Amino acid sequence: MQQKILVTGGAGYIGSHTCIALHEAGYGIVVYDNLTNSSREAINRVAQLIDAPIEFIEGDVRNAEQLREVFAAHQFFGVIHFAGLKAVGESVAKPLMYYNNNVSGTITLLEVMADYKVKNLVFSSSATVYGDPETLPIDESSPRSCTNPYGQSKLMVEHILEDLAVSDDDWNLVTLRYFNPVGAHISGQIGEDPNDTPNNLMPYISQVAVGKLEKLSIFGNDYPTVDGTGVRDYIHVVDLAAGHVAALQYLEQQADLATNDLATNDSVTNSSAINTSVGFLPINLGSGKGSSVLELVTAFSEVTAQSVPYQFAPRRAGDIASCYASADKAKALLNWQAQLSITDMCVDTWRWQSMNPNGYCPT
Ligand code: NAD
Ligand code: UD1
Repeated sequence: MQQKILVTGGAGYIGSHTCIALHEAGYGIVVYDNLTNSSREAINRVAQLIDAPIEFIEGDVRNAEQLREVFAAHQFFGVIHFAGLKAVGESVAKPLMYYNNNVSGTITLLEVMADYKVKNLVFSSSATVYGDPETLPIDESSPRSCTNPYGQSKLMVEHILEDLAVSDDDWNLVTLRYFNPVGAHISGQIGEDPNDTPNNLMPYISQVAVGKLEKLSIFGNDYPTVDGTGVRDYIHVVDLAAGHVAALQYLEQQADLATNDLATNDSVTNSSAINTSVGFLPINLGSGKGSSVLELVTAFSEVTAQSVPYQFAPRRAGDIASCYASADKAKALLNWQAQLSITDMCVDTWRWQSMNPNGYCPT
C-alpha cells in the first residue's frame, strides 16, 4: 500500500529535495508550506522533475483549523516536519518570532496529529543543539546546549518530543540532527535560494563565484584546526533527503513489527511482547568527516574552475572551531550513510547557481 506523508515546509531547500526522494521511493506526498521562505516555483520544478503533479497547500503550521482540514481529507502514515525559520542572526533580533513559529508551530502540529492519531513524525533538528562539543566526532548522547534563539527553539522542540514520548508510547518521533547541508539536485533545477545575502558558507561561495558578491570573508584563521579556519561536516542535500526516506522506512518496519507482535500475542502470551515503540529517537545526519573553510573554498575553485576571492576577517560571534558527526547510529538503525563527496557538493551547487543566478526569481 502506498503510504501518504504530510511534508510541512516541503517547498523549502531540504523539503523540495526530499519530496523527490519520497516520490522515487513510492510515497504519496502532500506539501504544506506558508511560502515564507520559499516559492511556488520550487514546487513547480519538483513536479516537472518527478513528472507528476504535487498536492500543494499554502498554509501555516500554526493554523490548527487549516491543518485539521488537511488531516481530515487525507490518511497520513506520518509527517516530515521541515517548516521552521532558520536564520541565527534574525533569531537573535526577533526571538519571539522564532519561538512562535518554530515552537508554537510544532506544538499545534503535534496536537492536530494526536487528534487524528497520526503519531509518526520525522523532525528537522540541527547539530546546533550540541553547542560547542566537548568531544569529536559528536554522537547522539553528547550534551546539548544552545546560545541563540534559533538553536533554543530546536532544543525546546526536542524536549517537547521527549516528554511526549514518555507520556504515550504510541508516538514515534525520529529527530534528525542535520550537520551542514549543502549542494543541489543534479538537474540544476532546484537548490538553496537565500532571500538576502547568504549567512552560510556554501551559498556565499557560490554567489562570489557567479559574480553577485565581491569576495568571501573567512571568519577566523586562528582556530585550533588543520589550517586555522572553522571545520564543519558538510552533507549533500540529496544524501540528506535519502536519510528522511530511510527514517520513514524504519518507522514503517517498526509499525509492521508492532502489528505482527500484536497478532502473535493474541494467540500466544504477552510475555513475548517486543517493545516496538520508537519513542524519541535522535539521529545525526552527517558525513562523519570535517572540512575546513579553506578546504571547501579550494575544492570549489578547483572543481568549478571559478575563482573565489577571499579575505580573512575576525571570528563570527557564536561560531565554534570544529563540528563533525558520528554517523554510526544512522548506519546501524537506518542503514543510511552519506554517499556524495565534497566534489559532488561543489559541482552540484555550482550547476544550480550558474543555471539560476537569481534563484527561483527570473529577474
Ligand atoms: P527553508 O527555509 O528552505 O525551508 C523551510 C520551509 O518552511 C520554507 O519553505 C518555509 O516557507 C516553510 N515555513 C516556515 N515557517 C512555516 C510555517 N509556520 N508554516 C508553514 N511553513 C513554514 O529551510 P531548510 O534549509 O529547507 O530547512 C528545513 C528545516 O531544517 C528547518 O526546520 C531548519 O531549521 C532545519 N535545519 C536546516 C539546516 C540548514 O542548514 N539548511 C540545518 C539544520 C536544520
Ligand atoms: C550555521 C548556524 C547553525 C545552523 C547552520 C545551518 C551560526 C553560528 N550557526 O552553522 O546554527 O544550524 O548554520 O543553517 O550561525 N563562514 C565563513 N564565512 C562566511 C560564512 C561562514 O568563514 O561568510 C564559516 C563559519 O565561520 C564556519 C563555516 O564557514 O566556520 C560554516 O558556516 P555556516 O555555513 O554559516 O554554518 P555553521 O556556522 O556551521
